[in-house]
Amino acid sequence: MSRRKLRRAFSRLWLLAPVTTLGVGCSSTWGCDSESHPETFSLASLTLADGGVATADTSCEELCARVMGGAPCEFTRSAESLPEPDEVRCQVTFLCEGRRPEGLCGEGAVEGRVPALGALFARMAHLEAASVPAFERLADELAAHGAPERLVRAARRSAGEEVRHARAMEALAVRHGAAMPEVKVAPFGDRSLEALAIENAVEGCVRETFGALLAGWQARCAEDATVRETLAAIAPDELRHSELSWDIDAWAQARLPEDARARVEAARHEAWLALERDAADSLMPEHVARRSGLPSPEVAQRLVRELARTCSTARA
Ligand SMILES: [Fe+2]
Ligand SMILES: [Fe+2]
Repeated sequence: MSRRKLRRAFSRLWLLAPVTTLGVGCSSTWGCDSESHPETFSLASLTLADGGVATADTSCEELCARVMGGAPCEFTRSAESLPEPDEVRCQVTFLCEGRRPEGLCGEGAVEGRVPALGALFARMAHLEAASVPAFERLADELAAHGAPERLVRAARRSAGEEVRHARAMEALAVRHGAAMPEVKVAPFGDRSLEALAIENAVEGCVRETFGALLAGWQARCAEDATVRETLAAIAPDELRHSELSWDIDAWAQARLPEDARARVEAARHEAWLALERDAADSLMPEHVARRSGLPSPEVAQRLVRELARTCSTARA
């Protein structure tokens, strides 16, 4: 996958993003690794399709259809003294993409009653922070396996960029009432070039490549100007990280025997399918989707499919 082809594919797919400054919001739902986060709404704040206000007698299905476009929910009370439930809690499912290190503990779920938008940014920050040890290990391993110095240097530079990304996303999370969860990673051990190549194919060529596409998408269509500016600063770095993944892939594949190359390809193929499933399962309230600029599950699925197709044919 050459840099030129990757950049051309991104430019083509970004053209599909509705641009906020033209007054067209992104409608949607989109989520982090099928982990869900509860978001609570006051019943009195929800207007039903017939213009009426939601009550404890309104069915969960109707409420969820109104709030989330369909999601598991439960009625709750904001105070023990209330006789009737006055809130509905819906499960929000995020999908954040990026390079995860082996042995990452948890998916960055935030504890307690935190607004979904803050929880989304906290998870994105957690994933950015988790990419730091992933790149540091990658740089060490590339050096140990005799990779060209330019790849080692690029991996080290990427770790530094991920530190900046984590800080920027953490600032967004804090602004929206959430703290970034601590990043915990199990100690790394030595591993083969094949293991490195498989991780790079899944976490870099698939997940980080799609994460780079998403960052550029959000930079174009997030309703929140600070989100647009933050993601616009991150997106070019992520595009370079994606390009680095494909460069490392080409270098590693040239050194692996045929059966190992086939296993790398199989892992990459499975990762694209898993990503498409995660896109389909994602769910978040309309206001979170609009402000974060994330695409709908349908659009996200199409983007995954199209990116996977482009990456496969470009390498054929
Ligand atoms: Fe990043
Ligand atoms: Fe990255």
